[in-house]
Amino acid sequence: MFRPLLATVLATALTIFGTAAAAAGQPHAQGAALLHQREPMSFGVFYYPEQWPRGQWQRDLDGIARLGFDFTHMAEFSWTYLEPEEGRFDFAWLDHAIELAHKAGLRVILGTPSAAPPAWMGERYPEVYRVDEHGQRHEHGIRAEVSLTNPRYRAFVARVVAAMAQHYGHDPRVWGWQVDNEPGSFPDFSDSARRAFQGWLREKYGNVDGLNAVWSGSFWSSRYTSLDQVLLPNATLAAEDKLSPHALLDLARFQADITARFLDEQAQIIKKYADPDQWVTTNYTNVTTATDPRRTRKLDFTTFTLYPVAGGNALGGDSYAIGRPANLMEAAAYFRPITGTFGVMELQPGQVNWGGINPQPAPGAVGMWIWHAFASGASLLSTYRYRHPLRGSEMYHEGIVGTDGVTLSRTGREFVDAMHAIKALEGKLDDRARLPAAMAARSTGYLWSHDVFWDLEIQPQTTLWHTWAYRNGYTLAVKSTGAPMDFVAEGDDFDRYPFLIAPAYQMVSEALAQKWRRYAERGGHLILTARTGQKNALGHFHEGPWSAPILDLIGADVDGFDMLPSSADGNVEAGGKRHAWHRWADILSPRPGTEVLATYADHYYAGKAAATTRRLGKGSVTMIGVSTDDGALERQLVRDAYRRAGVAIEDLPTGVFHEWRGGYDFMVDYNPQPFSPALPAGAKIVHGQLPLAPAQAVVWKDAAWKGAARKDASP
Ligand code: GAL
Repeated sequence: MFRPLLATVLATALTIFGTAAAAAGQPHAQGAALLHQREPMSFGVFYYPEQWPRGQWQRDLDGIARLGFDFTHMAEFSWTYLEPEEGRFDFAWLDHAIELAHKAGLRVILGTPSAAPPAWMGERYPEVYRVDEHGQRHEHGIRAEVSLTNPRYRAFVARVVAAMAQHYGHDPRVWGWQVDNEPGSFPDFSDSARRAFQGWLREKYGNVDGLNAVWSGSFWSSRYTSLDQVLLPNATLAAEDKLSPHALLDLARFQADITARFLDEQAQIIKKYADPDQWVTTNYTNVTTATDPRRTRKLDFTTFTLYPVAGGNALGGDSYAIGRPANLMEAAAYFRPITGTFGVMELQPGQVNWGGINPQPAPGAVGMWIWHAFASGASLLSTYRYRHPLRGSEMYHEGIVGTDGVTLSRTGREFVDAMHAIKALEGKLDDRARLPAAMAARSTGYLWSHDVFWDLEIQPQTTLWHTWAYRNGYTLAVKSTGAPMDFVAEGDDFDRYPFLIAPAYQMVSEALAQKWRRYAERGGHLILTARTGQKNALGHFHEGPWSAPILDLIGADVDGFDMLPSSADGNVEAGGKRHAWHRWADILSPRPGTEVLATYADHYYAGKAAATTRRLGKGSVTMIGVSTDDGALERQLVRDAYRRAGVAIEDLPTGVFHEWRGGYDFMVDYNPQPFSPALPAGAKIVHGQLPLAPAQAVVWKDAAWKGAARKDASP
């Protein structure tokens, strides 16, 4: 086992990966410039003037400003008022609301109303609605039920967006735009979707032979003789037997492309009419795989929506009321690197109405999420919504103020308190500051691909496989070390990160395998896991040994893989401990020079390797082929990879996150247990207290940090 001196490795990491620290210091400063804002993070709240009596608008908007918010957000669902009749626009009401917001001192974000078309549209043109997987045409009354491929709907959207942009594009009271709302969530099997899919396939394959080759038309007579025959693969109707996995993969890609083009088209229209300092974004549904923010070209930055408490209980105990632990952490890591600037466009203000179970967030949780978003580098944060609705579909959804329209709710009070505490700190923060060297040394890239995710979901091979939970397990393991983490894509520069992890990266081209090799040879530490490299970029198996492109890289052969029913026993041994597994087991035969980290304890492959590691050039490659029931072994092996590389890591319980921004350290606790980190000597706590209680945040300044390397916080 190689264990170079910490100092040597730190120095090497800072030389080779110097750009990681530099880059990590910049995005927040970039956000403020892009958004033309004074404050490092702007706070806002959604307000729907059309839902309240006109006589209350001024009181409400003044109230929002008095609480300390910087901006408000309007109009995203108000198409019926913006275009009350086909082709007749009415902006008078919105002009008035914007003027009241402006007088109160609030900037305004305008939403485009594409998610909620008016009744006249459905009445006259029912084809604007999507057709679901059972062939049912949807109809007016709820949102996001439209067909994004329907030319008539697209024309209506283009027209209303153009009208809004012409009216407000030069209005200095309008700060920026959010196009659509949580775009692209539902599958559409309408005729227009089918025609659009055929057009997309024509662009991609040119002719039907190319498609038959990739989709495997020779299988079960599924071959087409013309692209016009191609159907939208409907997995719901084909539950008994299996559709071509390649057709399903193309469908997922097509849907993501359609949504991206829809967003880009709206952004382009706004930019045609608006001043260049009005920015354009959308509010993605957290990290959903129905959309792909990297496919859009015209948005200035990304924002996402965040509702951590809606019935789940990931860490047991009271964690159901603190929130899904990986939620905000992953979303920030995923959206931040795309443009370097991101925001939380909707943050849960209190109890919601749409979960299976809708518990109250624990005291402190709302405030902790806000601190966490700030610590993760968000440039704006907005909460959904100001007033608690008295009627309508979201009646049980809390707001910042309660049902009387004026009194802060309990969680609204927490929101406002956290907002003021952050505003007080912001003046002292330096968003151009560089990440401390000890943190930079463990910076980790998490390789992510929509193709790989979709492909795993299309062919999971065992009902125990859950791609999302699998991914969460590894992000949480990485974050337990106190590492800064970014999601990266195959085209990105891996060398910016001393560590790169690519869990279950099933589709591996020769080019990617070569890129990984060069990364490790230059000093990077690569962590691969189960299922990696089984397929090529088309989603076909490699014609050769199992996982062919990664074998030289991991220094092992993959003899095959196994999975077990819950009733069977499977164990893996590592460091004298046994871990139960059922989900997945890559059976590894190490080649000379490769070290075995874990071994299967039973079945015909007892004694074969379950995890290995090897040096490669100046770096290393670790392969974790088993997915254990509780993930404890994987967490340990991930942590060991940092240690073996001689990099100091922290030991944070699952759901405790350590982030750094602008000279301050932040720690938040989604775990139902308290935690006491060992702060560096002389550290000064500026917010919160130790031990860190569940649903709380603590912020400190490290006396040793002067913009240069400092000692790590804990062993
Ligand atoms: C979001 C959505 C909002 C609102 C909110 C309620 O997903 O974008 O418009 O419905 O949920 O929690």
